[in-house]
Amino acid sequence: MQLQEAVLGRRSVRKFLSKPVAEEIISDIIAKSLWAPSWGNTQPWEIIVATGKPLQEFKKRNRAALLEGKAPQPDIAMPEIWPPSNKKRYVDLGKSVLQALSIAREDTQARTEHFARMFYLFDAPAVVIFAVDRALLLEYAMLDIGIILQTFCLLAHDSGLGTCIMAAIVSYPQIARQVLAIDENKRLVMGAAFGWPDPDAPINSFARSRGKFEEFVRWVR
Ligand SMILES: Cc1cc2nc3c(=O)[nH]c(=O)nc-3n(C[C@H](O)[C@H](O)[C@H](O)COP(=O)(O)O)c2cc1C
Repeated sequence: MQLQEAVLGRRSVRKFLSKPVAEEIISDIIAKSLWAPSWGNTQPWEIIVATGKPLQEFKKRNRAALLEGKAPQPDIAMPEIWPPSNKKRYVDLGKSVLQALSIAREDTQARTEHFARMFYLFDAPAVVIFAVDRALLLEYAMLDIGIILQTFCLLAHDSGLGTCIMAAIVSYPQIARQVLAIDENKRLVMGAAFGWPDPDAPINSFARSRGKFEEFVRWVR
């Protein structure tokens, strides 16, 4: 696949086939992702890959925490306020997702079920979590994690896999620590669910949007 095709063709996938992903494929994608740049070539990441029974247990406990109304306590605080233009895009995404699932806005039960599926990590056959040591300066480490995460997603897409970067994977980090044996001194930055995309699922094909070039770019000539 050409790089441009990969960049433009990658999208978040939220429904997967039940077919597992072979470990060789996952290893190959991660080995190539390790070529991502990082500050001073520090390569500050720890990468946890979860599949099979441990992942099943993690999904169940993650969903249960949500349904029990436990407050998320991510290691990296989630934004609570945004500039209006950012907020509008967030709200628009929510509308597109609900529309693709044929869920009416006022149907609270169906919306809860969607959130439950999300915290069940869309039942993906595999999940990757990127963590960094607590001793690291977080802002810089976050840049490095962002770069390797997108590298991973593009390479996965190149292999025909679908990915969804998910804050919902690291919203209850204590559960991940317990079930996936992650050290207390690692901060869980972000995760991605991945697997073979369900080609027939409308949630995998709704139209996405991006702001106009002029909204973001200012030439200084
Ligand atoms: C840091 C981060 C966290 C995200 N968390 C979630 C999540 O918890 N659930 C979800 O459905 N999508 C999540 N997404 C996916 C975004 O909604 C998605 O990337 C965005 O809408 C753009 O769509 P695209 O990935 O299809 O291009 C996350 C993306 C990023 C970068």
